[in-house]
Amino acid sequence: MTSANRYLTSWESYWSTLSGAPGEIFWDADPAYAAQQDLALFKGHVDPQLPLIDLGCGNGTQTRFLANHFAKVIGTEIAPAAVQLAERTNGAANVTYRVLDVLRPDDAEALHGEIGDANLYMRAVLHQLSPSDHATAVQSIEQLLGEKGILYLVELSSAAEPFFAKLIAEHGPPPGLARVFQHQITPGMLHERNLKSLFPPDRFTLLGTGPSHIRTVHNLPTGEVVKVPAFYAIFRRR
Ligand SMILES: C[S@@+](CC[C@H](N)C(=O)[O-])C[C@H]1O[C@@H](n2cnc3c(N)ncnc32)[C@H](O)[C@@H]1O
Repeated sequence: MTSANRYLTSWESYWSTLSGAPGEIFWDADPAYAAQQDLALFKGHVDPQLPLIDLGCGNGTQTRFLANHFAKVIGTEIAPAAVQLAERTNGAANVTYRVLDVLRPDDAEALHGEIGDANLYMRAVLHQLSPSDHATAVQSIEQLLGEKGILYLVELSSAAEPFFAKLIAEHGPPPGLARVFQHQITPGMLHERNLKSLFPPDRFTLLGTGPSHIRTVHNLPTGEVVKVPAFYAIFRRR
């Protein structure tokens, strides 16, 4: 089985077994605490006339919010079950959802041929891939961006691993996270110090980067919402 199939098998299994109960999806934060803050960071860099692709959009919560700010939005996913869930729960007149494996640059090229240059939003997707697959994902990103698009990504940082270790030691695994692990999803890591080699300066211009967090739907016994350490970066192609 290729690694791309491994992602498809595990994520399809995850997405097809959700019941739709509130709080079930660990990272499914209210967009007021996710895409809205992200948008504030990247909106000064985008050409709003271009379509926006939410790459690895999951159930489409953030996608639908972004559709309030772009004329045309496409949520893409490796898992058909996620596409179906997003269509059912996060539809809007200017949003479409479709299957696209970010590890298939030929499919990204075909989508670029269909819609032209696009802005890309990626929340908590690259770190899910094995580091050995990152370069292939970046090839797809280049195809989709074309000359005019920008990429906004927000990914767990190197501080996430000790953060999770402490969280689990003190409170046990959050149910939403345990559900992910039940489907043989084994998160990789995108270390912020590797950004430069992954998006080399001869191919990409770094427009901005800084610390961030991925807000979750999990509350600690204190009532505090779990926010996983993350970082954001904004790029365009040279
Ligand atoms: C942690 S979730 C984040 C979902 C969404 N971006 C959000 O913030 O709600 C990671 C998503 O990446 C998707 N994914 C994993 N591997 C992928 C691949 N090779 N191509 C496209 N999407 C992928 C998964 O199905 C999952 O929905």
